[in-house]
Amino acid sequence: MCGIFAYTGNKGKEAGGVLLDGLLSLEYRGYDSAGIFTPESGSVRSPGAVAELRKKMPKDFAGKSGIAHLRWATHGEPTEKNAHPHGSCDGEIWVVHNGIIENFKELKAKLERAGHTFSSDTDTEVLTHLIEEHLKHEKSFEKAALAALNEVRGTYGIALQYKKEPDRIIAARMGSPIVLGLGDGEHFIASDPTPILPHTRKVVFLEDGEVAVISPDGHRIFKLDSTKVKRDATDIDWSAEAAQKGGYEHFMLKEIMEGPEVIENTLRGRLIPEKGLAKLGGLETVAKQLEKIDRIIIVACGTASYAAQVGEYMLEEHARIPVEVEIGSEFRYKKPVVNERTAVLAISQSGETLDTLEAVREGKRHGALTLGIVNAVGSTIARETDAGVYNHAGPEVSVASTKAFLSQLTALALFTIFLGRQRGMTAAQGKEIARALKELPKKIQAILDTKEEIQKLAKKYAHARDFLYIGRKYNYPIAYEGAIKLKEISYIHAEGCGAGEMKHGPIAMIDENFPTMAIAPKDSMYEKMISNIHEIKARKGPVIAVATEGDKEIAKLADDVIYVPETLEMLSPILNVVPLQLFAYYFAKEKGLNVDRPRNLAKSVTVE
Ligand code: F6R
Repeated sequence: MCGIFAYTGNKGKEAGGVLLDGLLSLEYRGYDSAGIFTPESGSVRSPGAVAELRKKMPKDFAGKSGIAHLRWATHGEPTEKNAHPHGSCDGEIWVVHNGIIENFKELKAKLERAGHTFSSDTDTEVLTHLIEEHLKHEKSFEKAALAALNEVRGTYGIALQYKKEPDRIIAARMGSPIVLGLGDGEHFIASDPTPILPHTRKVVFLEDGEVAVISPDGHRIFKLDSTKVKRDATDIDWSAEAAQKGGYEHFMLKEIMEGPEVIENTLRGRLIPEKGLAKLGGLETVAKQLEKIDRIIIVACGTASYAAQVGEYMLEEHARIPVEVEIGSEFRYKKPVVNERTAVLAISQSGETLDTLEAVREGKRHGALTLGIVNAVGSTIARETDAGVYNHAGPEVSVASTKAFLSQLTALALFTIFLGRQRGMTAAQGKEIARALKELPKKIQAILDTKEEIQKLAKKYAHARDFLYIGRKYNYPIAYEGAIKLKEISYIHAEGCGAGEMKHGPIAMIDENFPTMAIAPKDSMYEKMISNIHEIKARKGPVIAVATEGDKEIAKLADDVIYVPETLEMLSPILNVVPLQLFAYYFAKEKGLNVDRPRNLAKSVTVE
């Protein structure tokens, strides 16, 4: 998720100032690097957030129109050379892009053979060179841009500018949002309405496969095949703050609702379903070493450590390799037994959690192969590990981790196929997991569509002071994840527990005021879970069950049931955690708490 913003106007405003203000309001979409281009002054780019870009801009930076960008890195480190806007060889064509061009490697190779020189490691840069190439044959910039867009595969929300036509800007959308702002004598393009709202409330949302051209006095929309599109403008009454949150009240809800898109982004270009294989570019360089390792230690903290525990079950069952999970804050103090045949895999959303980083360094000291599943590109853990897989979940603003957790589990499933196929997993098994992974986004959407029901449940139980969360096997870590979500944003006592472990202590707490959330899908542990729920009911404990659609039996036993669609047992945590995230969100909201910024917590824990 990056942020783009473009402006063209005849009102005498300086585009530089308009664009910088717009970028500032978009900073929640990315802060790895920022950049700006106007036909009059050219491009200025900088690593870091908008403040760094502002420092670098010359005092005489001028322009009546321009394009600007905030980067949340996906391909290539967050350096100046990888910052947008990117230019063509002749410096005439410039682009800002949000999304991923999947076939950029083939296109880049073809363009290099045709004599183009690339100056960044990004997928985005192929766009400008491709348009430059088409401009050799096409009659206009617009036609060349269309020809290029018809050649790329992947997702994009883009703004393009051509120096020879300084007051026109082209936008296009495929998978990544684009909104046009229609002002009086000025027009805008942005990733969302936030930067447009101070100027005009009249907007037009582009749909996938649509292209728009804006100039100071108007706009046109057409499809990739050039057919015209007529779309009425919408009047937006959101505040700028609501616009940042996509109209949701909190970032946490917005990020939970992004679940289907996040899974698609984590999977994009990484599955070869017909062969039952996972293609993880970041692990190619260590693929041979991975064949030789005999043990994996996954290091992580908090929510990421619960993803790690699910990963342990996935990898042991399907890739048949011994796996241990170690909490980052413990690993380096316990004199771990690690050698060159061990892989130490760090899981971290921020890539900056100090304890996880130190665990990686400890692994390195002992000669281990170090790997990362990291969301923040170019973060310290991403840089210090030998190889890794990026989540591609986009920035997570809310302190409570939700969408990053889904992407961590998805990346672990991909890693399981990758490693499993090296170690005896059959193509049929690989295909089965790949198929089930591809179905997850629509299944998550089906759960999200029931959010009002979950909100009602949160209201019903909002008086509770304590909560027990239980699950078994793949959903044992999900019990802990459900509990941490509730306690960190609601400040009430919530305990995760393996359902089988309950009678060794925790069950003593159960009475009619102590509800239990029981994660009980129809899987290999179903009968055992039912027995555990009976044990709670026998002590008058209220039970909410998270169960598989169609399971009527459980409704007779539990006080309330949240149904989720069926999937493979190893993937069921990815679905079961979603209602728990929603439940925690609505529970805290019911209490009127600051959901996105819970007390005493920080998004990135860079101290011991
Ligand atoms: C809980 C939460 C934390 C983080 C933990 C690790 O919702 O967000 O428990 O999961 O601090 O953070 P990262 O993944 O950035 O290493």
